[in-house]
Order: sequence, then structure tokens, then C-alpha cells
Amino acid sequence: MKNVFIFSLMVAIVVSCKSGMESSSDKECDKFVSELMAKMTLEEKIGQLSQYDPWTGPVTGPQGEKYDLDRIVKDGLCGSILNEPMNELMAHRRQHIAVDSSRLGIPILMGRDIIHGARTTFPENIALSCSWDIPLVEKIASVSAREAAACGFHWTFSPMCDLAVDPRWGRVSEGSGEDPYLAGEMSAAMVRGYQGSDLSSPETVLACVKHFAGYSAAEAGRDYNTVDMSEMMFRDRFLPVYKAAIDAGALSVMASFNDFDGVPSSGNKWLLTDILRNELGFNGFVVADYNSVIEMVQHGVVPDAKGAASLALNAGLNMAMVDNTYNTYGASLVKEGLVQEEQVDRLCREVLTVKYKLGLFEDPYRYGDKDKWENGTCLQEDIETAREAARASMVLLKNEGGILPLKGKEHIALVGPAADSKEWMVGAWEGLAETGRMVSFKDGLLRRFPDAVISCEKGCSDFEAIPGGISRAVSAAAKSDVVLFAAGLPSYCSGEAASLTSLDLPQAQKELFDAMVKTGKPLVLLLSTGRPMTVAREVEKSAAMLVTWHPGISGGDALADILSGDFNPCGKLTMTFPLELGQVPVHYNAKTTCRPRLSPADNGKYLSRYMFTPNEPLFVFGEGLSYTSFAYSDIEVLTPEVKMGESATVRFKVRNTGVRDGHEVAQVYFHRMVASTTRPVKELKAFRKIFLKAGETAEVTLEIPAERRLFFRADRTWGDEPGKIEVFVGGSSK
Ligand code: NOJ
Repeated sequence: MKNVFIFSLMVAIVVSCKSGMESSSDKECDKFVSELMAKMTLEEKIGQLSQYDPWTGPVTGPQGEKYDLDRIVKDGLCGSILNEPMNELMAHRRQHIAVDSSRLGIPILMGRDIIHGARTTFPENIALSCSWDIPLVEKIASVSAREAAACGFHWTFSPMCDLAVDPRWGRVSEGSGEDPYLAGEMSAAMVRGYQGSDLSSPETVLACVKHFAGYSAAEAGRDYNTVDMSEMMFRDRFLPVYKAAIDAGALSVMASFNDFDGVPSSGNKWLLTDILRNELGFNGFVVADYNSVIEMVQHGVVPDAKGAASLALNAGLNMAMVDNTYNTYGASLVKEGLVQEEQVDRLCREVLTVKYKLGLFEDPYRYGDKDKWENGTCLQEDIETAREAARASMVLLKNEGGILPLKGKEHIALVGPAADSKEWMVGAWEGLAETGRMVSFKDGLLRRFPDAVISCEKGCSDFEAIPGGISRAVSAAAKSDVVLFAAGLPSYCSGEAASLTSLDLPQAQKELFDAMVKTGKPLVLLLSTGRPMTVAREVEKSAAMLVTWHPGISGGDALADILSGDFNPCGKLTMTFPLELGQVPVHYNAKTTCRPRLSPADNGKYLSRYMFTPNEPLFVFGEGLSYTSFAYSDIEVLTPEVKMGESATVRFKVRNTGVRDGHEVAQVYFHRMVASTTRPVKELKAFRKIFLKAGETAEVTLEIPAERRLFFRADRTWGDEPGKIEVFVGGSSK
């Protein structure tokens, strides 16, 4: 049984395997937890399965009732707190109540969303993925962990492993794009960065793989909407991303809000027990999403909150987030025989085990240190890392006539709602940032271009015209050599509950853009966004286009690095930009179909195509320009025939054919030509980011392990099949 490669190439990445061996520290942990649990009442065990948010009251009790969290902690009924206020956290006030005043002194697990930075704000995750820089992403997660831990948090709800499928869904900004392999690599890097090699270190935090499962496939891109996908789609494209993060050692997982194949994830035994624990071997604990246990009542699968608690406990959901359902109903469910006490024991043991691994029993106060927070976070080197990340994430998609980089002596009109805004730098999750420290585009450019004349005009607000805005912007443009148009969708249009049915530039921005174009000045579109947008019309009228994303604390400096040419852009898209919204979902790894349209010029009627719109998107996965150019040659598959279980090796040369040094992301795609299930036209299987001096050539050899050839087969198993595989090598999925 063999795979035959009929065209070319490959990278070796070590697949982490969980060892089945129990270490002596595992044994000590088991012993400790068993002894502790032997002393616990049923109520106390269920308390460990309950997370509270000090900012809100319960939603299960009468409206407006406030719970007395200090009392709950004292009674030993609070396992975790979400978003503990910073001053409380650093004073360890509630931790002291738990440790000193509750019967068994079990420490509280403090959690918070640290998604793209804690005090140092990094670019949003979709942007980071466009760097294709795995070590950088790992480093960013470790900086975030150090900062979150200094503040007193033990746990972040990241990485988001939901595969991007629909740009209408605002949360694509929190993930790593549309390709399962790349998103898996990014997610695993984040887990390694957060958890480090020692989870008990006061500089690491617990990672949380979310949102399990399929949350991003919400129908019509509307957040929280129903998810219904085939098992093949789930196993082939979605599951590998969660799996990669779990294999990297993540010890917590968050269940998603959505129903999946008719059953809400928080009560979905198939997902939480059969797949997650039994198949993937996950041995941490599962937390609900915010209120997601009680929201199963709204889903209509249980009549009341008690039924919701029962469904979730039996499905294997360890911790209810905020809704108080477990503490309210857990003990009576056990007493009535609706939930077995052994199930509660199992769930409690998993939570306590993670607390042990975090070192909380050894020293409940080792996280949270005012001095570390004040003097050891957002350091100059962290800000430099943020700047490096921001410039590596920005994607140049057009550069007509080499208008960029700028000379630095021009009259520049910097126009648009993102031109001088700190808020547009932040992105979806503020973390623990001081937003006033963000460097706006204007500040970054002023700093870098002392010899240029820069006039900055907002022109319009995010969504509205402002009186006189356009005419002021037109005057600035009239005096300029070049217009930098900084626009798109603001930070608050990224993230949760930010679904959109139009991905166009907002109307007020379109009007401003058109007025700028009318001035006849060359225009550079700086697109700030957390998702792909439908900007074909604007791209056509612009001389250049750079996607800046929401770039974080050093956004303005990073932009200046690129516009000045100090840094040669190298970001490559990880999510397809549609030409028109009607193409959505549109992604590079589509199936061939029975009637493929092999060329855009083929207008045959009975083909898989639109009548009046091309199939091709505006920009594809993997695409991104540089100020230099690269050429590929000598592509060779060193293993033209491989047996099942063997790796394949591809070798090729990349040459920097321009006059500037630069990075290239060399990409390798497979197309399995015949298989028992239909396969995508292309699937990313390996990549390598390389730096080449002008004129330099590198020989790249990439090994593709057998695991990366596996897929979901017609007999509903995961595995390989003999057959021919086409191999493509190049600088984008095109
Ligand atoms: C709801 C979001 O869906 C989730 O991503 C987040 O971690 C939790 N809230 C906690 O804030």
C-alpha cells in the first residue's frame, strides 16, 4: 500500500504524543487529591465545579438578586472566579477567605480572557496567524502568561481553535484562519506559550481550548446560532485544530454556546466524553461558556435549570460558568439519583488535579505580585515583541508601480477614522491593557518621518459623516503627494456578538474614500479590520493596499516600519477575502465538485459557478506581497513512492529575485487525486518562513509526516489510503 507523489515537496514538525506513563508526581498528585476528596462533602465537591463572576448576580435566582460571593467562598462552594477585579486579586483578598476561612482551604482558580495580550496588547489572533511565525506566536503567549500571572490570574480562555469559515462571524478575529493545519500549529504554539514547561511556575497560566465544538460554523455567521455539520466536515477540518491544542498539553477546554447536531455542546455527551476524553485522550477539565448550562433551557432541550445541570453533569462538563446551576441543583440531583455521585467525583477530581498542577495547593499566593505587575509587565522588550508581531502580521496585497515604500519626504495626507485612533489599535479583547498607551498610526508616522509633512484628517467617524469632514480631508489631500486612507471596521466590530451582513466599507467611509480618489492623488488603502472585507471596488481604485488589522500597542510604529521600508512586509493571508458576500463561505480548500470550473474563462452553463460573479475570491489564503520578489525552482519529491506510515520529503529552491532582503513563506499543498471521500482541491501540508538577502537562494527540504496525510474515509474512520497525490509548492495557495 503506497502513496505516489506526482509533482513535488515538504517540513518536519514533531507531533507531540501524550505518554501513557504515570510519573511519580502524577502519583503524588493523585494521592493528594484522593485524600482531599475523602474529606469533602458532596456540596463541597460540587462547589469546586462552580465558577462565579463578581460583577454580576446569578441568573438562576429571582431577577436582581445579588449573591454574596464572600460567603460562598467561605462556605467552600466556589471553585473558580471569572474576572476578579485587579485590586482584589493582587491583595489576594478572596483567596485568603478560601484558604484561611473555608473548611478545607481549597484555593480558588482565577480566570480571565487574555486573548491577544494582557497588559501588552498584541495584534488580534487572525493577524498573528498571518505572520506564519510559530515561535513568535509562542513567545507572545508566554509574555501574555507572565503578565496575566503577575496580576494574579491562573487561567486564560485561549486559544480559540474554531476554524474560520464565515467572515460574517465577528469572532474570526480571535482564531487563526481557515486552514486546519496552520490553525492547529498556531493553537499548539499558544498552549506551549501559556503553559510553558512547568504549569506551576508563577510565570505560566492554564490554557483553555475553545469553543468545543464547531462554534464558528454558526449558520449564516450569526453568533450563537445553530451548528449543523457532517461528521466528515467536523473530523476532517474542525476537530484537528482542537486536537492539536490538546496534544500540546492544554488542560482545560471550554464548551461552546451552540447546539451541535441538535444537542447543545454543554450537554453533549458525545462531544465532551466520547470524543474529547475517550478519543482525544483529554485529561484536564471542561468549563462551560458564560451561562451556557442554563441556556440549554432556551435551546429547548431541558425544561428548567435543574434539567440543564443534570444534562451538563452527565455529559461530562466539569464547571458551570457563572449561572449557579451546579451549586443550586447538583446535590439534589445526586440525592434523587439523576446524577451518580461517582460522576461528580470524577469531575471534581479533574478540577482539583489541575489546581494541584498549577501549584495552588503548594502556594495559593504565588501568582499576583504587585511589584512584578508594576515593574515586570509591558516592558520595553514586550513592546518590541508587539511591534515585531504587528509588522509581521500586516499583509500587503497591492503595490502598483512600487508606490510603497514611501520616500519619507512627501506631503502625506493621512485620512480616515483609523488615522489617529488608539481604539482602532486595540482589537476585540482589551485584556489588562492601558489603552491610552497604544501608538496610533499618526503618532507612529510622525515619529518615523520627521522630514515629511503629515496632515491628518479623520474625515468621518466609524459609521457616520462628520460636518465638514470630507472637505477638510479633500483640502489635506489636495496639498499632498500621497493619501494614506486608514479605514475599515473598528475594534468593537471584532469579536463576540459582532456578526455582520455586510463586509463593505461603511457608507460614510465609502463617501470619504470616493472624495479622496477624486482628488487624483495616489491612494494607499490601510485596511484596519478583524476579518476579511469586500473591498474589491476600493482596491481597484487604490495604488496600494495593506491590511493592518487591529495591530495592538505598537500599531503605529509597526505601520511606519513598513511604510518606510525599514521592514519588508511578509504577512500572508490566512483567511480568504471574498469578492462579494454572496460567495461566502469561500475558502481555498474547497472540494473539486462534480462539475469543476477549471478556468475563470470557462463560461459553460452547467458548471459549478455563479451566473454573474466569478468563483474566484478577491484575495486567497496564503497570499501576500513583499517589496522584493521570489522565484521557486528545482521542485522535487524525494520520496516519489511512500508506504503507509512513512513520511514524504519535498525539496525545492527559493530565490530572492529582487533588490531588497525579505522573508518568504514557502507553502506546500497536497491534492489527493482519488480517495474514498472527496478531497479538497488543495490542502496546506507544510510551510517554512525563510529570510533571504537580495539575490540569495535557499534550498528548502520539508518532511511531511504520515499523520498529516490522514483523512476521514468513506468507512467513517480516520486513516490513509493508497493513491496519487499531487504536490504544489509556492508563495500562496494560488
Ligand atoms: C463568552 C465567550 O464566548 C468566551 O470566549 C469567553 O471566554 C467567556 N465569555 C468568558 O469571558
